[in-house]
Amino acid sequence: MLEKMGDFFDARLDGYEDHQLSTIESAREFYPFTAKCLPTAEGTYVLDLGCGTGLELDEFFALNKTAKVTGIDLAAGMLDALQKKFSGKDITLINGSYFEVPFGEEKFDAAVSVESLHHFTKEEKIPLYTKLRAALKSGGYFILTDYFANSEDEETRFRQELLQIRKEQKLSDDEFYHYDTPLTVEHEKEALIVAGKCLESSILRTFLSLRKSFTARWRRWFYLTNFRLIGPIRLFSRSLSMKQGGEVF
Ligand SMILES: C[S@@+](CC[C@H](N)C(=O)[O-])C[C@H]1O[C@@H](n2cnc3c(N)ncnc32)[C@H](O)[C@@H]1O
Repeated sequence: MLEKMGDFFDARLDGYEDHQLSTIESAREFYPFTAKCLPTAEGTYVLDLGCGTGLELDEFFALNKTAKVTGIDLAAGMLDALQKKFSGKDITLINGSYFEVPFGEEKFDAAVSVESLHHFTKEEKIPLYTKLRAALKSGGYFILTDYFANSEDEETRFRQELLQIRKEQKLSDDEFYHYDTPLTVEHEKEALIVAGKCLESSILRTFLSLRKSFTARWRRWFYLTNFRLIGPIRLFSRSLSMKQGGEVF
C-alpha cells in the first residue's frame, strides 16, 4: 500500500539521517557540496523545499551561522526534528506542500532542494519553478540536488507504475503518495528553462560529470546540482538496488 508522502517520511524518522548518509551513494559528498553552493553573506535568506530533518542545513549552518532559512515540508515529524537540531538558528518552518505554500516575491537570496523533487512531473514542476523564480531576489539562484532517471523509458515506466498502483488502490488524486518518479535530466532542464525563461546554454555553462559504471543497470540514477538556472551542473552517480515504496528514499 502506498503511503501519503508526509506519513511515509514521518514513519521512517527514526534512523532517517543514518539511512540517507549511509545508504545513498555520494551522500557524504553531495550534502557538503550543496551547502557550499549556498550564499555565505551574513543574514542571507534561503528557502529549502522539502527540508526534512535538514541534512543539507547541518552543512550550511556550519558555513553560514547567521543565515535565515525558511523550510517547507509535508512531514510534521521531520520538521520537529529539524527544529530541535537548530534551536538557536533563525529558521521559519512551514508544514505544507511547496506546491501550495506562497513563497512571496523577491524574498530569497537562494533556494535549495535536496532529494525531494523526484516525486513530481515536469508539468507539476513548471508552475513551481515559476513561483520559485519570482521568489528569488535579483541575482538569486536555485540549487537542486536530486535523482534523475537514466532514460525516458525509465521515467515513463516509474510514472506508469505509480498511476497503475494509484488506480488499483483507489487513491485520491488530491494527495501526494510516496513513490519515486524521477525525471530525466533533459526533462528537468526543460522545466527549469521554461520557468526560468533562460537558454539551455546558460544552465549548462559548466558541466562536470562524475559518471561511473554501474551494476544496478535498471535503476541507474544520478544526482544533479543545478545553480540558479545559470552556472555549473554536477552529476553525482549512484547505483542502487531498490524496492519502490520501500526502504530507499
Ligand atoms: C528524502 S526527504 C529529503 C529531506 C532533506 N532535504 C534531506 O535531503 O535529507 C524528502 C522530503 O521531501 C518532502 N516532500 C515531498 N513532497 C513534498 C511537497 N510537495 N511539499 C513539501 N515537502 C515535500 C518529504 O516530506 C520529505 O521530508
